Amino acid sequence: MNNPLSYANKRVVVVGCYSGMGESTARIVGELGAEVVAVDIRKPGVAHANFLEVDCRDPGAIDAAAAEISRSGPVDALFYCAGLPGGSFSNVDVMSVNFLGQRHFVEACAPHMQRGSAIASISSAAGMAYAMAMDRVKELLALTDHAQALRWVEEADAEGSLEGYSFSKMCTIVYVLHRGPLLTRETGIRLNCISPGPTDTPMMPHFEEQVGKAFMDNFPKPIGRNSTADEQAWPLAFLNSPAASYISGENLFTDGGCAGGILTGSIDPSEMMPS
Ligand SMILES: NC(=O)c1ccc[n+]([C@@H]2O[C@H](COP(=O)([O-])OP(=O)(O)OC[C@H]3O[C@@H](n4cnc5c(N)ncnc54)[C@H](O)[C@@H]3O)[C@@H](O)[C@H]2O)c1
Repeated sequence: MNNPLSYANKRVVVVGCYSGMGESTARIVGELGAEVVAVDIRKPGVAHANFLEVDCRDPGAIDAAAAEISRSGPVDALFYCAGLPGGSFSNVDVMSVNFLGQRHFVEACAPHMQRGSAIASISSAAGMAYAMAMDRVKELLALTDHAQALRWVEEADAEGSLEGYSFSKMCTIVYVLHRGPLLTRETGIRLNCISPGPTDTPMMPHFEEQVGKAFMDNFPKPIGRNSTADEQAWPLAFLNSPAASYISGENLFTDGGCAGGILTGSIDPSEMMPS
């Protein structure tokens, strides 16, 4: 039997490969046989077939990277794992890396991908209320020009109406749900995302600093613990593999059941509040 999770003879781009879920994803798909083109603002300690230093806040740098990647042949899978946690990072930087850079990377790489290839990115359980912010999210998504979208973000930030992190995650989910079916119909490329719950990566201390360790400890975790980076990388590897060949425009909550419970009322979100 052919292993549908195999990445043998596949050329794969992993953006945000330095640490956390991106590091895990690059390692796992590499072990599954992929040639990994690693992308990050920081050079990873482990060797990959190729490394490109890219600041995902910069659309010009993304365009240059996509052009360079395409010169060596088509891309079979793109994983966008780069992200910033908020807190000491500005709302504009958080939106730029988590959403605007993601969308720009996807749209810049898609023309160099073939029918049957796939793209997966990372949102968050923090974006689970996307339906309640749909009008605002769609207002931004309608601005497909990066400079215009960045201006919208800067203005929203200046008027104090932007919470960068959760909004960036809502934008990611809505972008994937809305753009996925169109991209798949036009090009045969699938587009999906995962929405992890609390995960032990270098980002976790930033969240604990922002909202308090008690909040992160009390965050509903039906499985009873934080996930590991590998437990997020495997669903990403699945989504971009032929094992998921009929899945597109999907947001997969990889949070042990937290979002399902909160959205249907079997989990009380006030559990998160320290007593
Ligand atoms: N850790 C969690 O609890 C958690 C939960 C839900 C969602 N997420 C999301 O998962 C994704 C991965 O985060 P992580 O937890 O693995 O954290 P991480 O900090 O280990 O990984 C983030 C990666 O993004 C890279 N990066 C940051 N700024 C960049 C830039 N300007 N250009 C290019 N690369 C840049 C970093 O170098 C790093 O490799 C993020 O989108 C994060 O929001 C994390």
